[in-house]
Order: sequence, then C-alpha cells, then structure tokens
Amino acid sequence: MKPATANKAPVFDAAEIRADFPILQQQVNGQPLVYLDNAATTQKPQCVIDAIGNYYSRDNSNVHRGAHALADRATQAFEGARRTLADFINSPKAEQLVWTSGTTEGINLVAYSWGRSNLQAGDKVLVPTLEHHADIVPWQLVAAERNAQLVPIPILDSGDIDLDAFDQLLDERVRLVALNHVSNALGTVNPIETVIKRAHAAGALVLIDAAQAVAHWPVDVQALGCDFYVFSAHKVFGPTGIGALWGREEILDAMPPFLGGGEMIDRVSFDGTTFNTLPFKFEAGTPHIAGAIGFAAAINYLNGLDRAAAAEHEHALLQTTLQRAAEVPGLRRIGQPQQAAGIFSFVIDGIHAADLGMLLDQQGVAVRTGHHCAQPLMAHYGIEGTVRASYSIYNTMEDVESLFTAIDKAVQLLS
Ligand code: ALA
Repeated sequence: MKPATANKAPVFDAAEIRADFPILQQQVNGQPLVYLDNAATTQKPQCVIDAIGNYYSRDNSNVHRGAHALADRATQAFEGARRTLADFINSPKAEQLVWTSGTTEGINLVAYSWGRSNLQAGDKVLVPTLEHHADIVPWQLVAAERNAQLVPIPILDSGDIDLDAFDQLLDERVRLVALNHVSNALGTVNPIETVIKRAHAAGALVLIDAAQAVAHWPVDVQALGCDFYVFSAHKVFGPTGIGALWGREEILDAMPPFLGGGEMIDRVSFDGTTFNTLPFKFEAGTPHIAGAIGFAAAINYLNGLDRAAAAEHEHALLQTTLQRAAEVPGLRRIGQPQQAAGIFSFVIDGIHAADLGMLLDQQGVAVRTGHHCAQPLMAHYGIEGTVRASYSIYNTMEDVESLFTAIDKAVQLLS
C-alpha cells in the first residue's frame, strides 16, 4: 500500500504489504501460511527486523551513561524512538511516554504506583466484564491491599458495555475506570470517549488499554482526554518485550516510583534517595533499547501507510467473514458488538474450540482458541472458550476464503 496522493483515491494493496513481511512467505503443514492470530501478536516487516539487527550490529551500547560514540548513538536512537512514539499518539511531551515491557506492565505500573498511593478503604475501580485478565488482576491485587473494591461493569449480550449500568455504578467512591479500547476476545470497539466524559464528570480517572487498538486507527491522547494510555509494540508490528505507558504529566509527576534501581534516581545515600524526573523515574535498570528502536521502526512503517484505507480493508475482511459465517451450519458468533475491529470470535455446536483450532492449523490456518485471557467474559456467555480469527493489514480476501474452506473441512472431519 502506498501513501495516498492528493488527487487519487487511496489504493490499498494487501498483497503488496504482505511482501514486506518475510514470515508470511512460508508454508505450514504443507500449506501456505494463513496467519489469522494478529490479536495475539502481529508479524514484523523487514524494516523492523533490520532496525533491530542494525542496532546490534553497529550501535549496541548502554544509554544515558557512557562517554563514547556508541553510547551516544544508542542514546540518540533510544530517545529518538521515544519522540516517535510520543508523536504517534500526539503526546504534548516526549517525557510523558514511559517505556514498559508491554501493556501488562503498563497497567501494573499504574496499579502499584498510582493505586497504592491513591486508593483508600472503600474506594472503587471499575472495569468492564469484557476485560483481559491484565486489566483485572492487577486491580484485584491492589484493591485487596488497600481494602478497596474492584467492581465489574456489566455488558450486554451483544458484547457492548451496558452504559446505563455504568452510570448507576459511577458514584463518588469510584476513583478509576480502566477499560480496553478494543476487546481482544470479541473485537468490541468500546465507546471510550463517552466513558471518559462520564467518568471524569464523576471525578474518576480513566486508563485505556489500547493493546488491540493502536494497529487499527490513529490515536490522539489529547483529543481523547484520557489519563493513562497503555499499549504494546508487538501488536503493532514491533518487537515483543517493549511497550509504552502514556500519562497526564501532573499525575505521573505525583506518582511514586514503581521499580527501584539505576537510572530512576537523582541521588542515593543510606539516609534516603531522591528520584529522577519523568520519564526516567519509572525506568529502573537498563531498558530494552533494541526494542524501543524496533518499536519506532514499526511506527514509522505504519505512518507510511494510508491508515484510513487500511482500516477500510480490515472492515471489509470482517464483513465478508460475517457473510461467510452465516453459511456454516451451527456456527455462532460470540457477541454482536455495535462496532467491531478485525476480530471474529465463534463456536460451532458440538465441536470443541481446541479441536477445531488444531484442524485449522493442519491446513495452514493459524487462529487462537480458548478463553483469550478473558474468563469472566467467557463466563458471561456460559462457554469455556471460542475460536478467534483476527485480521491485520496484510490479510487478504483469499485468507478469509481459506479460513472457511478449512472450517468446512474440519467440520466434516469432526462431525
Ligand atoms: N492478549 C493477546 C491475545 O488476545 C495475547 O491473544
């Protein structure tokens, strides 16, 4: 896909994009790989692989510390990556962008740093029933420690948040609402603008888990008005082990450190320690330098694409999937959200999700099966798990067709 030009309608060519991803050019179990597990992790374009390789081949050094050329190059690349990420989400300042190991660590950082120092006995944190365990368990742990409460926001059977129930729950004891922008299990696009407005009106802060969202649409944290925004590189064509936490400056400034160690300090003595400024206060120890550089390469790659055309393409893949799914006897989509990102979660009567996943894999089709780290959501639907196909920019209509050809064959074998 090429960037759109002023006078031409955007042309989106997923096959052209696909050529940028070496891993997709292989056969699995004797069949061309059809990779439909993008909600678990996206594949990496050659430019990201090269950025990491080049860093280790030419510039590898520790950052902020050394008095030599390599240390200087590594530091420049690392802090340049932070600026790339900050611009990507329209952060007012690069200092508001804290490197983490991923979305999970970002949520834990907020839970332990902000939660421990702000939650009082009787306070409440709200999370929708459709959250990933990473946005449930940290709050449960901190709530137990602070004698606070984690309260689920009910969902409708469509897989949408029940906004009326949310309103009922919003009282003066609610200190924080934490929710994903896109459900990893159902693809629901949550109405985060509405949630942010209502939560703020009630005096609560809002954390957005954007792990499943950033690969699909441009983000503007200032326009959103959220208080914390967390995401991972590996779900947006970057490497594993690196992510980002963005926060409002005054809130991050007031929060105590999360991990102690080198880099996060100002002065250390046995009488007491003072701490570094943002973002270093939250970055103890040697960071994942290569990861940050790979993350920025992924963002630069994404910035070079026509994102509106990419979103339209993914939408078309999902619409075609839903039409094809209606032709498969016994197939039941789980959730019918008002708006869904490129995720299709389903069960087939009488067939275990794991068995279906295995037979799809034998035909070269990679999907995820199980509870998708969302057991309370599965409990809502009274199921153990689903089969989940999740799309990205490099998937094609042929991939959708391959999925359904493989489902048909698997159903014949298992029935
Ligand atoms: N959270 C990732 C998924 O949904 C791992 O698959």
